[in-house]
Amino acid sequence: MVGSASVDTTYRRFSHDPAYVEANTAFVQRVPLGHVKEILDLCGGSGAVGQLMLAGAPESSLHAIDLDPVQIGLAAENYAALGFEVRLGEAALGPSGPGRTVSLIVGSATELPFADATFDCVMIANAIHLIGDKEALISGIARVLKPGGLFAFSSGFYAGCWPPVTQQVYYDWLKEATAWIGNVNAERVANGEAPIKRVRGKSQLAPVAYQNRWLTPDEWRELLGAMGFDVQDLNERPVMFDHHSLASVGAYSGLAEAQLSGYPVELASQALANTAALALSGADVTSVQHNWLEVCAVRRA
Ligand SMILES: C[S@@+](CC[C@H](N)C(=O)[O-])C[C@H]1O[C@@H](n2cnc3c(N)ncnc32)[C@H](O)[C@@H]1O
Repeated sequence: MVGSASVDTTYRRFSHDPAYVEANTAFVQRVPLGHVKEILDLCGGSGAVGQLMLAGAPESSLHAIDLDPVQIGLAAENYAALGFEVRLGEAALGPSGPGRTVSLIVGSATELPFADATFDCVMIANAIHLIGDKEALISGIARVLKPGGLFAFSSGFYAGCWPPVTQQVYYDWLKEATAWIGNVNAERVANGEAPIKRVRGKSQLAPVAYQNRWLTPDEWRELLGAMGFDVQDLNERPVMFDHHSLASVGAYSGLAEAQLSGYPVELASQALANTAALALSGADVTSVQHNWLEVCAVRRA
């Protein structure tokens, strides 16, 4: 059974999921990008949402930062394939070139290596829930934004992201995935091999993604207001995931590590990817609702 789905440490598979792409496209369409020239994409990953921002801001250049060098490498390939001039390393830290450039930096969203008032727009798509110190993040963003600049973020993890019926499906999914691992272990034992044990307390990601307190939309509005921003747009978007979407996100090692922490990540990913359809059929549904929060705020002058 093991080996029927592969682990995806890069989020690449889910970043192409039609429901996810549609949600990201709709989020970017709500951001007034028309006159934006300098964009900063925090936690930019492989560039899936940065590309949408560049398409919506035809005069703009983009800087993107991500902690993961593998993601930065994928982003470099993706932006180059779209015809952008890509700059990496030292060159990426300087101002944008005369044409439309994409500058990619391996680094942290909470330690921004840019001068004050550099950007017209700072975005963080599908990642703000991964940052523990929200005050440090937001004050860094306020510093590098020009007065009147835009801060836009989207997140599928906030207080309100899971309607009650969804929670049941996610519980069932974990139950099915754990049973799937149980079957793998039974097969191993039948073949004379030792079962794979869960080692608690080993996950790096679980504390970040799931132990950060999730804010309500009102708490986000309040926090941003207190830190020098006026929220112009706050939207909750219902996104429907079918079993293909769930299997894609289940195959992502980040989710597997968080949901089934302590199991080898390959096994956890396979368990989630292989049981997504079961979780839905168990609840007698063909898709499950997951809400996304979309916020666009303006830095007060
Ligand atoms: C779920 S992916 C989102 C990628 C992209 N923004 C998108 O929407 O497709 C989260 C990304 O955040 C990055 N990341 C997590 N914590 C970070 C931090 N403190 N600073 C920079 N990047 C971070 C991860 O490496 C990963 O690429």
